[in-house]
Amino acid sequence: MPDIAFVKPALPRAGALVLPVTEDAPLMGLAKQADEATGGAISRGLEAARFKGRKGQSAVLWAPGAGLAKVVAIGLGKDPAAAAAEAAGGAVAGPIAQEREAVVAADGLTPALAAAFAMGVALRSYRFDRYRTTEKPEDKPKLERLAVATSDVAKAKAAFAPLQAIADGVFLTRDLVSEPPNVLTPAECADRCKALEKLGVGVEILGPKEMKKLGFGALLGVAQGSAQEPRMVVMTWNGAPKGKKAGKPLAFIGKGVTFDTGGISIKPAAGMEDMKWDMAGAGTVIGLMAALAGRKAKADVVGIVGLVENMPSGTAQRPGDVVTTASGQTVEVINTDAEGRLVLADVIHYCIEKFDPLFMVDLATLTGAIIIALGHEHAGLFSNDDTLAQRIEAAGKQVGEACWRMPLGEAYDKQIKSDIADMKNVGGRPGGSITAAQFIQRFVQGRPWAHLDIAGTAWSGKDLPTAPKGATAYGVRLLDRLVAEHYEG
Ligand code: BES
Ligand code: MN
Ligand code: ZN
Repeated sequence: MPDIAFVKPALPRAGALVLPVTEDAPLMGLAKQADEATGGAISRGLEAARFKGRKGQSAVLWAPGAGLAKVVAIGLGKDPAAAAAEAAGGAVAGPIAQEREAVVAADGLTPALAAAFAMGVALRSYRFDRYRTTEKPEDKPKLERLAVATSDVAKAKAAFAPLQAIADGVFLTRDLVSEPPNVLTPAECADRCKALEKLGVGVEILGPKEMKKLGFGALLGVAQGSAQEPRMVVMTWNGAPKGKKAGKPLAFIGKGVTFDTGGISIKPAAGMEDMKWDMAGAGTVIGLMAALAGRKAKADVVGIVGLVENMPSGTAQRPGDVVTTASGQTVEVINTDAEGRLVLADVIHYCIEKFDPLFMVDLATLTGAIIIALGHEHAGLFSNDDTLAQRIEAAGKQVGEACWRMPLGEAYDKQIKSDIADMKNVGGRPGGSITAAQFIQRFVQGRPWAHLDIAGTAWSGKDLPTAPKGATAYGVRLLDRLVAEHYEG
């Protein structure tokens, strides 16, 4: 991410000048100054490009004069809102990546829109290049500093401060999800959570011994085929104003399968490498905790992730095994590839017993079936609480992380009845994402709970407005917004 500074309007002498333009508006302020300094080259260029400032419209003018390498104009449409400014920021990240410095002429925007524009640039500038050793320098992005020119520096800075913390959380999630599975083992992922301590987050790591004591038969059953030890990480952020009697914490729970081969019910070879991002639910919870702590959210929040690797081996669990979960309920494991729900069952039970939370939201790349149902445009939302569900849906709309509510019900629950145990871990092909959610619901003890199936949204095969292709960190911004809107005083 480039360094982002908010500065008083002043023309740069080199590099890129970015012009966010409202539809059909004349060039004003810094943009007008630049036009004059270039002898009208900018307005002539934009006219020749038929640039009108429509939403999504852009134009690049090379070497227009006054020392500028390029001018990038980007349309905001009419009456731009934060989402439009952010998308516009995302759209210029590519065109300015090869300059060392860029100045954004945001002096015509409100401080909030200027901050949103900068957020868009930041989010879209993400790159995971840790393992590229032979990339040519000319192919690497060079943007070091983004100066956002604004007429109210103090206000824009204040608006951007929480966004910077959220962007840091998003980047942390994307890093974790992008790491290869030989590097990001359960133990390594747990170790990386420790970095949150310097933000004031409490981080407790539990290993197999502790989990055995807690009776985590379901999670440990998944882990038993792997040479990698499982971990559970409990992260706490106590940001609610002290004084009055402490309220119940909000709880976020993530599926962290660092690699999912399917186990003995092994997956086909084609595309199996994708299963490195089967820990995206956990990665999202970790990035969310970083975002909340980074912006000092005024809420008490606990984030818990269950980290395991699902492998086939001589010690792996078998189809037909019966495991006893921490709740005491037993599960017949029909398919070892339906492992995420087994991990969540124990972690959710622990969360209730230990924290008595106000609500729980779990995130999991849980089912391929949710991709069949909703594609990559919405995550699946399941909940036993209408208020919580509506708040999550609304927060998702606001930040551009959409989700779609799916049904739950007794008839679906019947699909996971077992002949030998309290339930089985799969319910057949019909409604595969729903029966997975029904399974999880059996562990929430009737408490307010929502489940986000992010199998279709955690990773993108194509560039998105504010995320390059790859790990999206879907959910970090949604849940940050949920907390900010409803649970901070
Ligand atoms: N991690 C997968 C789900 C998944 C599939 C995520 C594709 C992302 C992309 C999960 O553990 C799984 O294997 N689910 C099975 C469940 C089935 C065995 C009932 C599935 O979806 O096929
Ligand atoms: Mn699986
Ligand atoms: Zn999985």
